[in-house]
Amino acid sequence: MGLNRVKIIDIPKIVDVRGNLSVIEKNILPFSIKRVYYLYDVPSGVFRGGHAHVNQQEFLIALSGSFNVSLYDVNKEKQVITLNKPNQGVLIPTMIWRELDNFSSGSVCLVIASDIYKEEDYIRDYDVFTKI
Ligand code: TYD
Repeated sequence: MGLNRVKIIDIPKIVDVRGNLSVIEKNILPFSIKRVYYLYDVPSGVFRGGHAHVNQQEFLIALSGSFNVSLYDVNKEKQVITLNKPNQGVLIPTMIWRELDNFSSGSVCLVIASDIYKEEDYIRDYDVFTKI
């Protein structure tokens, strides 16, 4: 259940004078991709997230710009990761509380998820999360 299950994963990058290309194939993630969504037009000073997932895993990438990902386990251990490269992401396993903030102007957060959207998979109350 701990933060040691959180992983920073480098995404292969094909460098080219015409512009770099990064590719996420199924072998770099420990789950089958069921959903992709993205956060954009995030106003400065706000935070997103504020929840954990019971069964879903997510892989977050700063496709553009940067933001901070604060992660907590059920024992309230905390880790802060700054995502600021389109060829690196953070794998958030099940039962890890996440908060995203400090979005730079124009940043885009891509999220690759292990399942379709299911509200019943969310824990949105931090006190409930830490008591599990
Ligand atoms: P939420 O997951 O709370 O956003 P964040 O964690 O980034 O702050 O989702 C915000 C709203 O969007 C909420 O009403 C649920 C809805 N939503 C979907 O309908 N489908 C999805 O795949 C996601 C991620 C959210």
